[in-house]
Amino acid sequence: MRKIPVMIPYFTEDESEEVKKTLSTGWVAQGPKVQEFENIVASHENVKYGIATTSCTTALHLLMVAMGLNENYEVLVPSFTFIASANAVEYTGATPILVDVDTTTYNIDIKWTENFIESNYSNVDGKLINKKSGKTLFGIVVVNEFGLCADIPAINELAQRYDIKIIEDSACALGASINGVHEGAFGNPSCVSFHPRKSITTGEGGMVLTDDESIAETVRRLRSHGASLSEVARHQQKGFLLPEFNELGYNYRMTDIQAAVGVAQMRKFEFIQAERQKRAAYYDKLIDEKFDFLKTPFVPKGYNHTYQSYVCMVDYKALGFDTIEQGNDFRNKLMNDLDDLGIATRQGTHAVHTLGFYADKYGYKPYDLPGAYECDRLSLTLPLYIQMTEDDQNYVVECMEKVLKTIR
Ligand SMILES: Cc1ncc(COP(=O)(O)O)c(C=O)c1O
Repeated sequence: MRKIPVMIPYFTEDESEEVKKTLSTGWVAQGPKVQEFENIVASHENVKYGIATTSCTTALHLLMVAMGLNENYEVLVPSFTFIASANAVEYTGATPILVDVDTTTYNIDIKWTENFIESNYSNVDGKLINKKSGKTLFGIVVVNEFGLCADIPAINELAQRYDIKIIEDSACALGASINGVHEGAFGNPSCVSFHPRKSITTGEGGMVLTDDESIAETVRRLRSHGASLSEVARHQQKGFLLPEFNELGYNYRMTDIQAAVGVAQMRKFEFIQAERQKRAAYYDKLIDEKFDFLKTPFVPKGYNHTYQSYVCMVDYKALGFDTIEQGNDFRNKLMNDLDDLGIATRQGTHAVHTLGFYADKYGYKPYDLPGAYECDRLSLTLPLYIQMTEDDQNYVVECMEKVLKTIR
């Protein structure tokens, strides 16, 4: 049977050559190749410092610790995101407070969030204090979902007004931009992922991106057990003593083997991005022609969408249904039947407030955040990878037409 997966990473001989070169140096743990990769990614995103880690989750954790997050604080996190965005806040002892998203862009609903702050926090000596918990609002983790930036200028304006911090979770958004300004270059630190479901990959991997020298230095120390000196620096200078360890750190180091793959992947970044955009545009055309019930990804003017995932929404009203649940049954049947035909699809991501850990711990109900719930139940990710031909895309759409005849 013909098989179409959701994603396949794109490698050429270049990755193998780069790894071979690295192996031949004997330096395979974090070393010069990681530094090279950090410089390439930071310069691509137009920020001063890149600090590579084992994943975006660990990048977020380190960044939050470096920014001083702890159990005295709360952080707003959009609910329609991968669970890691909220988990990273939990690791620090702070409380993630889930907020709603816009069902058109899948990104944070700024108006909803502003109303939430106004109703739940009081300004006490310049700090926003939660009227119930007594904890201080630290800031917002803004997720640039699926490769589309949230409205960062509007969010920055909100943050300035309330004097709170913004962290951009750009796990899916390397290369995404608004009017030419890349994610992470709007003055907020950000974290990106190099998991194989992302545009480029190092197997597992992540990176903190920031213009702030002090945050960068702290993240660098914390990722390596809190050591006062990096391994590279220790080997470059004369001496045999171990570095100082004055704070609790972690081992979140990327290896030079992974960075070698990353360096080769970054050489093709523009090509990969353009090819993904080309396939997204072709899906847009096919879907607009054939399916009145499917909304294609929305791209505001001036935004560069990198299509880490191509995520549509099932319009349950266009299908003649009255409820999201009916629309959800339909979407799941569609996904199931496509799977039987060898075509893999996924829901966009999950609504974190509906997941067991968060629902149990904080008592969330599905409709507390209706936008996130709707996205969870009705979003549909179609396969997209650059080895995919037009014929493959036609086949996905033909199979959808075939399935629809039986379930609609
Ligand atoms: C929005 C978001 N944040 C964080 C992560 C975690 O990334 P990683 O798998 O590199 O830890 C993901 C992964 O899919 C994600 O989509």
